[in-house]
Amino acid sequence: MGSHFSSHLRSRAALLTLSLGTLLPQAVFSEPASKASSYAPVVITEDFNTTVSRMSAAKPGIMKRQADLLAERYDLANRPAPGITMTKGKPVQDGVRVKLPAGTTWEQLAGMSSDEIKARNLFPKGFLPLPHPNHPEGGMLFPRFHIDEIKRQEGDRDLTRFDLDFDLADHFLPEFPAPIFLTTRPDLGDVSKGELVTLNNFFKLFNGVLNPKQLEGMRLLLTPFPQQQFNVTDDRRSVKPSRGVACLDCHANGHTNASTHLAGDVRPQEFRHRIDTPSLRGVNIQRLFGSQRALKSVEDFTEFEQRAAYFDGDPIIATKKGVNVLERGSQVHFMGELQALLDFPPAPKLGIDGKLDPAKATPAELRGQALFFGKANCASCHAPPYYTDNSMHNLKTERFFAPRLVNGRLANMDGPIKTFPLRGIKDSPPYLHDGRLLTLDDTVEFFNLVLGTKLTPLEKRDLVSFLRQL
Ligand code: HEC
Ligand code: HEC
Repeated sequence: MGSHFSSHLRSRAALLTLSLGTLLPQAVFSEPASKASSYAPVVITEDFNTTVSRMSAAKPGIMKRQADLLAERYDLANRPAPGITMTKGKPVQDGVRVKLPAGTTWEQLAGMSSDEIKARNLFPKGFLPLPHPNHPEGGMLFPRFHIDEIKRQEGDRDLTRFDLDFDLADHFLPEFPAPIFLTTRPDLGDVSKGELVTLNNFFKLFNGVLNPKQLEGMRLLLTPFPQQQFNVTDDRRSVKPSRGVACLDCHANGHTNASTHLAGDVRPQEFRHRIDTPSLRGVNIQRLFGSQRALKSVEDFTEFEQRAAYFDGDPIIATKKGVNVLERGSQVHFMGELQALLDFPPAPKLGIDGKLDPAKATPAELRGQALFFGKANCASCHAPPYYTDNSMHNLKTERFFAPRLVNGRLANMDGPIKTFPLRGIKDSPPYLHDGRLLTLDDTVEFFNLVLGTKLTPLEKRDLVSFLRQL
């Protein structure tokens, strides 16, 4: 379906004579030159084999364009931070990876007003919205390690797309398979036993640990159902007809494997946000779901995922491709109940108030905590013990840059976004709703500029030390 949107995009782009990286005054976007349709065509006129050859041939060029964008924005080296890992031992990446505009320093930028940064085009490119690897096309994309493990366990279920691959290197992604902690059985520690939970092993792993209702919820979260790119019609992006995707193909082991997608809520295509899969750990203490949708319960979000998000918010296409309508009382509630058992990972240095135990923390971590609650002003939105205010905030990053088209994504205003919790945050890179920041060090530079807090280099390092303990 993305290809239908991309034709809208091409015609709009032609009318506006936009090219990559072009800067445009705000006003250009308040009156679109032509009004794109919200609907995707239902009948596909191109023969499937022709689509496969055409899109596979275009793939290397598209992947190179994305790789070039990432290399232009970020230092992509594999540079683990000494002495700190994710919960099961994967290295945490160290240092600021967003590149500075030539001839500037972070301290100089922090000393300028947003107007000046905008006028001189000095906002670091890595702080701009990150496009999907092929933004005009969009759709679900899974990292290779997940695709391989599903093939190993489930035989013929292949989540490979013939038109696109996932774009970020493994060292910037969460550990896989991630450990699972249950709110009901903290005594058991990691209940995944180091395996990716699938339909093949969930019963062996969870029989005797979960009740039958929760086991059924888990089974449904692991069962593939049709989706926009993975279905049995010719309007798909897998070579063979596909049984579909499972909830835990993205929220792998109830956490995240950083699979990406485009938010279904927005039209036209270039305004849609790339969205990085959030962890389901700790959904039990949250009150708003989705970066912008603000659905009020895990049950609502579960229903919404399969009926709307799987099909880009287009119920007409959903019917054609075989939408799975979940029954609220006996399916959605079961799935919701299971999700609400997924706990944050242990944080051995935190007390019951979510703050550092001074007997266990280092002086740098304690200084970082004082900054978090003081000069750096983080706690005004990220409140302990889970480090969220369960609300949304508009960070207004558009103060710092002129709107521009970046590989099919119109970088402009993001609008209000959910305050994601920071408990367990070192386990879930990349950061922000679209994954535009690769390390926690990047998030500290980002907020230092956005909030105008003027932290010193030592203060920024201390703040990172604190975030790594949450
Ligand atoms: C593409 C992989 C993908 C699949 C498959 C998927 N999700 Fe998600 N999920 C996401 C993304 C991305 C978001 C963030 C959406 C947004 O910001 O609008 C999300 C958000 C959520 C949230 C809200 C989390 C929060 O912190 O606000 C819940 C709950 C959820 N998904 C449950 C499910 C369930 C249940 C299923 C299966 C029916 C499912 N997901 C299938 C990627 C996926
Ligand atoms: C005005 C409210 C506000 C303040 C103050 C604030 N944040 Fe946030 N934070 C947010 C919002 C909203 C998001 C989600 C933004 C997005 O995804 O685009 C976020 C996201 C994050 C993330 C990424 C979470 C994830 O799951 O990807 C980190 C890390 C973070 N903040 C750290 C900090 C630090 C450190 C500070 C202080 C220097 C801070 N924040 C101050 C509102 C705030």
